[in-house]
Amino acid sequence: MPDQAAPAGYSGLQIALHWLVVALIAQQFILKDAMSTAWDRVTDGLEVGFDPLVLTHVAGGALVMIFAAWRLALRARRGVPRVIEASKLQGALAKLTHVGLYALMILMPVSGAVAWFGAVDVAAQGHNVMKIVLLALIALHIVGALYHQVVLRDETLARMRRAQG
Ligand code: HEM
Ligand code: HEM
Repeated sequence: MPDQAAPAGYSGLQIALHWLVVALIAQQFILKDAMSTAWDRVTDGLEVGFDPLVLTHVAGGALVMIFAAWRLALRARRGVPRVIEASKLQGALAKLTHVGLYALMILMPVSGAVAWFGAVDVAAQGHNVMKIVLLALIALHIVGALYHQVVLRDETLARMRRAQG
């Protein structure tokens, strides 16, 4: 998108969707044990009874994907503020991290759904590998946000808190 068309900041909706997804992904990790246990029963050929925490994992993951797709649509239609970069390398790293996070917000639910609804073991293995990549990217993303806040002292973190333009 050309720079002159970029809005001054993120909209309230873009900010709300960012933080909702943060909460949902945290929930996926905090409450993961119920899903892992249910999956162990599936692979052992045992009966899996109804468990609200399994439903929470499936619904929470589906919401992550819907919200990520919504954010991508908002990026395309409304746009996002201009990147704040201290150097070309830092800008490229931030971009790569964001692309990776968007990709995983879609690939995690897709691999989980293929595993769960199709009983496909390789999809569950992929889900498990991607969860580590996701955690690594989130860690990098948080380090980046703190770097902007503490070292560069710019507006990056503030604009994911307050809506503008
Ligand atoms: C962004 C969305 C998601 C995240 C972050 C996520 C995260 C996780 C995590 C952390 C585990 C535990 C793995 C372990 O250490 O044992 C897990 C397991 C699992 N998840 Fe998800 N999940 C997501 C979406 C989904 C969805 C939508 C489904 C199904 C429709 C699903 C199905 C599964 C299954 C079947 C397992 C068990 C795999 C195993 O233990 O080998 N996940 N997920
Ligand atoms: C589950 C965890 C998270 C995910 C998946 C995630 C994902 C993303 C993505 C994809 C973007 C790019 C937004 C866009 O321009 O379309 C973004 C931006 C941003 N995130 Fe996160 N985020 C997470 C956690 C956090 C946390 C914990 C913080 C604060 C410490 C944070 C601070 C920011 C900031 C400040 C931006 C704006 C960057 C900019 O304007 O250039 N995020 N996030």
